[in-house]
Amino acid sequence: MLYNLHSKIYFFITLLLLFVSCSTKRSFKTLSPNSSIEVNFSLDKDGKPSYSIKKSNTSIVKNGKLGFKLNNNLSFTENFEIVEVKNSSKDEIWEQVWGEKREIRNHYNEFNITLKKKDNGANRLQVSFRVFDDGVGFRYEIPRLINEDSIFVLSEETSFNFTDDHKAWYIPCHPHADYGLYYNTYERLYENNPISKLDTVHTPITFETNSGLYLSIHEAALTDYAAMTLIQQDSFSLNCNLVPWPDGIKVRTGSSLKTPWRTIQIAEKPGDLITSYLVLNLNEPNKIKDPSWIKPMKYVGIWWEMHVGKSTWFKGDKHGATTENTKRHIDFASKHNIGGVLVEGWNTGWESWESWLGHTPSFDFITPYSDFQLEELVKYAKERNVHLISHHETSADVLNYEKHLEKAFQQLEDLGVHAVKTGYVGPINPKGQHHHGQWMVNHYRKALETAARHKVMVDVHEPIKPTGIRRTYPNMMTREGVRGMEYNAWSEGNPPDHTTILPFTRMLAGPIDYTPGIFDITFNKYKKDNRVYSTLANQLALYVVIYSPMQMAADLIENYEDKIPFKFIEEVPTDWEDTKVIDSKIGDYIIVARKERGGKNWFLGAITDEEARTFTINLGFLDSKKQYQAEIYQDGNDAHWEINPFPVEVQLRKIVKPESEKLSLKLAAGGGCAIIFKEI
Ligand code: NOJ
Repeated sequence: MLYNLHSKIYFFITLLLLFVSCSTKRSFKTLSPNSSIEVNFSLDKDGKPSYSIKKSNTSIVKNGKLGFKLNNNLSFTENFEIVEVKNSSKDEIWEQVWGEKREIRNHYNEFNITLKKKDNGANRLQVSFRVFDDGVGFRYEIPRLINEDSIFVLSEETSFNFTDDHKAWYIPCHPHADYGLYYNTYERLYENNPISKLDTVHTPITFETNSGLYLSIHEAALTDYAAMTLIQQDSFSLNCNLVPWPDGIKVRTGSSLKTPWRTIQIAEKPGDLITSYLVLNLNEPNKIKDPSWIKPMKYVGIWWEMHVGKSTWFKGDKHGATTENTKRHIDFASKHNIGGVLVEGWNTGWESWESWLGHTPSFDFITPYSDFQLEELVKYAKERNVHLISHHETSADVLNYEKHLEKAFQQLEDLGVHAVKTGYVGPINPKGQHHHGQWMVNHYRKALETAARHKVMVDVHEPIKPTGIRRTYPNMMTREGVRGMEYNAWSEGNPPDHTTILPFTRMLAGPIDYTPGIFDITFNKYKKDNRVYSTLANQLALYVVIYSPMQMAADLIENYEDKIPFKFIEEVPTDWEDTKVIDSKIGDYIIVARKERGGKNWFLGAITDEEARTFTINLGFLDSKKQYQAEIYQDGNDAHWEINPFPVEVQLRKIVKPESEKLSLKLAAGGGCAIIFKEI
């Protein structure tokens, strides 16, 4: 009895203390598990919330703003008081269904703050911060708004108020352009300027600070919300600028609101941004109970041939997707350890698409052209252990696609086709919606969930940017959302440094369907004025440098026949046990090593920009006390992306003591090196 009474008194005193301290204390601090990162939350005298971040005493964000403007201009940025603060921690290891690394550690300290408006205490805002050793994520929740059935976000007021004019790598997004194009594409070359020179940009955006740190801002778990772009204000501050609905409202939800996580990755080396899994850790675990049908793979396809003009999507003299051509690709895939064959132009409706500006195509996503024997080809592929990869070009007529979505995916399931590439070229129907707005975020999710229900893996072109949803839906294999290889087929192309920037920017968001592997670098037979801006060895190295669980060998298959370097593509996996960045400089070069999942071999890819470079690397990343035969594919003598892109030299070298051995890599201008380390 007495004990009970004491514990009750103790309990009430604790509550009272908590209450008194919450109502008086206005600032809270949390450290990351190894104490290197510190997050401070505070409310000023006007009840305005803000946050600051430090890394080992270097200030990263100072007084970043928090909050919203909501329905009827209701301000959710001030006049708050603290109701409650909760702390918690987590340290777990989870396994990716596929990915760059099998086991991921999710280790953080969290604090959640509940605020209430002083003038109407029932209106509350919760902010949760997760502080990891490699960065910070925070998100908001609004449980409900008094006297409102729905919540409308007029603006999210989050700001990333940096302390210096850091150098940034980004793709611009000019929301005021007439056509609104920039809320609809990530297919741009990266720019590199100090923060003060930016206008509006997409995320991920990556920074190098004067104190030698590397930062990246992005978002995780983008669900039922608009994508965040950032607008530069007050010199070094980047403020959240959500992609709007046609009427200017940014987000509309039911009675409660939960935002994606705003993420700030912090690293001492640029390569550590790549091996940070913070964005994935902030997503929900896998919802697909039996993912056995999800299979990472390489693929070839009836694709590049349309881009270089060898064939057409529509049925005519030069139709690419014929039964015969598809069989030729299936035979090739089955002979060369390639898991899939993508077929574009198999379905009716492409006649009107080919002049796609101002198009009104009428795809139903189920009717094949008469020279494409769908059932026969599915059977032919299955017998040869090859996946047929279907294609749904929606031409951004999303209303039409949604009308056909269920039956299109049902057809894939009935046929036993487990992969589809989708595409959203052109302005969205319904008119005025943006590719990156809430309405489309919800459409992309609907398509992904439909695909999951029908056991279909997806590769999305003209997508919403990745935010780690692949953890929750591992059938979300890969996506474009980048200026990919196809630009080399019909534009001024991607300069040699493009792929040395992507790993530190776009790739931080998730896998990229860049479609590497063009061997006929100049493709003069089809187009004299276009070309690829790299050497052939560089194309090989991209299979290791750029991660994608579905990785295309993009060239015409005839260009691979009897080519020795193709052996590297045959052997390179698309699913990894582990990934290490050996050395890198954003926009200049990168060397990545990955160990195959469930195997013993390591693969290395090194690429450089337009400057030739030689590296001497330690082989300590290999498993110690093991011996390897290294198969080295490197730029041949005098190789150069511009004048001599083709020579590749293949060398063998035995590695006896990886712990102490070094290897020299010689990369030509715009060149690369790809190595298989086979355990002996
Ligand atoms: C654009 C995509 O990026 C490309 O891969 C595809 O071939 C065309 N759209 C046609 O769907």
